[in-house]
Amino acid sequence: MFITFEGIDGSGKTTQISLLQKYFEKQGKTVLCLREPGSTSVSEKVRDILLNSKDSIDPIVETLLFCAARAQLVQTVIKPALLENKIVLCDRYIDSTVVYQGYGRGVSLERIKDCNSFATSDLLPDITFYMDIQVERAQTRAEMRQSEKDRMEDSGNDFFSNVREGYLELSRKNTSRVKLIDGSGDIEEIHKKIIGFLS
Ligand code: TYD
Repeated sequence: MFITFEGIDGSGKTTQISLLQKYFEKQGKTVLCLREPGSTSVSEKVRDILLNSKDSIDPIVETLLFCAARAQLVQTVIKPALLENKIVLCDRYIDSTVVYQGYGRGVSLERIKDCNSFATSDLLPDITFYMDIQVERAQTRAEMRQSEKDRMEDSGNDFFSNVREGYLELSRKNTSRVKLIDGSGDIEEIHKKIIGFLS
């Protein structure tokens, strides 16, 4: 089973991923926890360019780099793991490119669709949890965690409002795959809701 988590930074994805990992492991299942961009040696190098580069990066190049990191992860890690019947939990996936580069940076949604489809050979998650939270609230949480912003986090409030709008629209358009979860609630309650969707 392939499960992805989406949401703006500070929406609580990481906490929920580790709760879900423990839940599955208690049942004796093998779980692989991954993050995007990253989780392979090549993808981590691409992540470093994307998040830490001081050079400005053109939105089209940004899109291609996120998709390149994704292609390496899908082809070398995710697909083999799914073939071995492992449970794959991934922090971000194709939807992040749609909302951050599409709704956030204004890159053509059609092109992003093609790019995602090429990078993943059309591998879609079985289910995606979108953790919805107000931009201001997410930023307060994120600021409590770290001091220096990375290149993406430095994109400004308008950018993040567009990203959230993108996520809301995406969950409205893909109701069978994308489950909207209110990320402002209690951690245990959210976990129970997630389990509810999986049982
Ligand atoms: P990360 O530190 O993993 O952030 P988070 O904790 O919010 O998941 O950094 C990933 C950043 O990259 C995050 O700001 C979202 C962004 N991103 C994109 O813009 N497009 C993408 O396709 C992906 C996967 C991530």
